[in-house]
Amino acid sequence: MAKVTIDGIEVEVADGTTILNAARQIGGEVVPPAMCYYSSLKDTGGKCRVCLVKVTQGSAKDPRPMPKLVASCRTPVMDGMVVQNITSPEVLEARKGVVEFLLINHPLDCPICDQAGECDLQNLAYEHGAGKTRYEEERRTFEKVDIGDKIKLHMTRCILCYRCTFVADQLTNERVHGVLHRGDASEISTYIEKAVENDFSGNMIDVCPVGALTDKTFRFKSRVWFTKPLDAHRNCTKCSGKVVLWTKGDDVLRVSARKDEFGEVKEYICNECRYDHKNMGDWTIEGPRHIDKNSVISQNHYEKIDMQKLKLDIERQIQFQKGKQLPETNQSPA
Ligand code: SF4
Ligand code: FES
Repeated sequence: MAKVTIDGIEVEVADGTTILNAARQIGGEVVPPAMCYYSSLKDTGGKCRVCLVKVTQGSAKDPRPMPKLVASCRTPVMDGMVVQNITSPEVLEARKGVVEFLLINHPLDCPICDQAGECDLQNLAYEHGAGKTRYEEERRTFEKVDIGDKIKLHMTRCILCYRCTFVADQLTNERVHGVLHRGDASEISTYIEKAVENDFSGNMIDVCPVGALTDKTFRFKSRVWFTKPLDAHRNCTKCSGKVVLWTKGDDVLRVSARKDEFGEVKEYICNECRYDHKNMGDWTIEGPRHIDKNSVISQNHYEKIDMQKLKLDIERQIQFQKGKQLPETNQSPA
C-alpha cells in the first residue's frame, strides 16, 4: 500500500494505483478531469493531457518534486507522494492551455451538437476555457461520415482520444476503424468506410467524450436536457440489459448505457438493447436517473418527481401499447 496526499487530503491506495485513480478514491473536486482515460478500457490514457497535476514531493524516500506537470492517468503513486491538483495555479493555467489546444480544431457548434449538455469538452471549456480563441489559421474540415447505419462521425469534433478504437479492439471481435495519418493530419477513419457492424459497436457512442460519434437514431430529436432519463432493464441474452432510457412524454428517444460519477460506462450494452427496443413496454422501469455531473444537462432535471404518478403513467403507456386502457390519474407531479 502507498500513502499519497492530494490537495491536502491523504489516502492509502494499493501499489501501482495511478494518481488519477487515487484521487477518484477521495472523490469530489480533487479528481482531475479525464478525456481519454477510461478505466474499463485497457491501455487508455496519456493522450489528451487534461489530467495534468503537479507532484510537489515524489515519495517519502526521494522527496524531490517532479520537474514537470505529469499526466495523472499514467503516473503511479509512490508512498509519501504529495500531489496538487486544484490547489495549484500552475495546474489550472496548464489545463486552460490544454483546453485551448483541444478547441483549436473543435467547432463551437454546441447549439446544434447532439452531445451538448453531456459533452466533457463543453464542461471543461466552461470550467477552464478562455473566453476567446487566439487561433487565426484555417481549421481542419471534413465531410461527415456514416459509420454503419446507426453512427455518424463528425471528424471536426474528434479530439483523437482513441477511446472508440479501444472499444472496437476490446469489445468487438473485429476492428475496422482506427486513427489514420500523423500529427494534425490524424483522423478517425473506417478503412474504405467499412461499416462497424457487430453487437457492441454502439458503445463507441457512449465512450466518445465529445459529439464526434453520435447515435443516428437520436440525432436532432431533442436537446438532452429536455428529456427525462430513466433507469430501466430488460432480460437480454447478450448484455446486462441495464440501460438509461431518455424519454419525452411516452416516447423513448434514446437508449444508452449507464455512466458512473466519472462519466464512464461500467456495463456495456448490446446494439439490440440500444437500437431495437424503443418502446416503454419493452423495459422494466426502475426510476429516475440520477445525474451526477455539473452540466447543463442537470439544469432541467426532475428527481423530485412523484414516483407514484410516474409508475402509473408508465403502466398506462404499457397497457395502451397492449391495447388496454387504464383509468386517468389526477395526481400532479411534486
Ligand atoms: S471519435 Fe470520439 S471516441 Fe473516437 S477518438 Fe474521436 S473523440 Fe475519441
Ligand atoms: S486523461 Fe490523462 S492524458 Fe487524457
